[in-house]
Amino acid sequence: MGTYVVTGAASGMGEAVSARLIGDGHTVVGVDIAGSDVTADLSTSEGRSDAITQLLAKVDGPLDGAVVAAGMGPKQGRERTLVEVNVLGVTEILTALRPRLAAAGNAKVVVFGSNSTTSTPLVPRVAIRRLVDGDTEGAVRILQRRGPLSGPAAYAASKIAVARWARRQAVSDEWAGSGIRVNVIAPGPVMTPLLRSQLSSSTASQVRSFPVPIREFGTPEQLAEWVMTMLSPAADFMVGAVVTVDGGTEALLRPNSWPTRLPVRLLPRMAWTMYRAPKKGRVADYSDS
Ligand code: NAI
Repeated sequence: MGTYVVTGAASGMGEAVSARLIGDGHTVVGVDIAGSDVTADLSTSEGRSDAITQLLAKVDGPLDGAVVAAGMGPKQGRERTLVEVNVLGVTEILTALRPRLAAAGNAKVVVFGSNSTTSTPLVPRVAIRRLVDGDTEGAVRILQRRGPLSGPAAYAASKIAVARWARRQAVSDEWAGSGIRVNVIAPGPVMTPLLRSQLSSSTASQVRSFPVPIREFGTPEQLAEWVMTMLSPAADFMVGAVVTVDGGTEALLRPNSWPTRLPVRLLPRMAWTMYRAPKKGRVADYSDS
């Protein structure tokens, strides 16, 4: 049986994943602002440091997996708190856990993204870039200029940033090279306290008019099932994927956006990566003979 860290373990999808892991006999160390094994506020630097100290003390030895589900939904005027939780609450926690994950040999990491990444209009590109580069202050300043759109823009920007961070780390020597499989799950609207609070706020009509071809919201249990697969041996060959589970919204809105052909402008990067890989010893003999 394994040991797993789950952030956002006190509610919604994090709680559903924890229940599944515990039900299968694993040990779960949960993190949340209240009601979990590690109580910490991931919206502050001190809170994240405290969470990391407590986690490293509680996880005695290798860590088989981490599921980073703690997150805030779009909230007007709370852009700073949101990016701290949704971006730094993922990147700082996972970076601190990396050595313990590497020690397990084939650990799995599931990052909670969102299909809002590809379905939210007017998300400032420069804010995403700043978030990916770790400049949260700069990103928040740009996002706050979006006026009434700053809440949804900050949410989508935060989720794009963590998905990009995860994909970049996923393929590196430090992560894939250490046997850690990092992947992202991107849910559509799932009936959790987060969605319920949006449905009872001024954004209710926007949420209800969001097109979901299957004509129902997802459940935390359905998403937990996908996460369990992404933590299982079935994911041994899965690295840097963004798994969209959204009732069809993404395909409806952007049927031709993905898959897409390799743009010519990426050829130099591709050539450089292929040239460098053997030199760094990253290309091994993959045959099993
Ligand atoms: P939820 O609100 O039920 O659970 C989120 C958990 O994160 C809560 O337990 C909350 O206390 C914790 N959290 C929030 N701020 C925190 C902080 N400062 N410090 C520590 N913990 C904190 O939400 P849900 O829906 O289960 O969300 C899980 C993840 O899925 C989130 O990252 C969310 O952005 C994402 N997501 C949710 C969707 C939905 O429709 N419910 C759709 C797409 C993505």
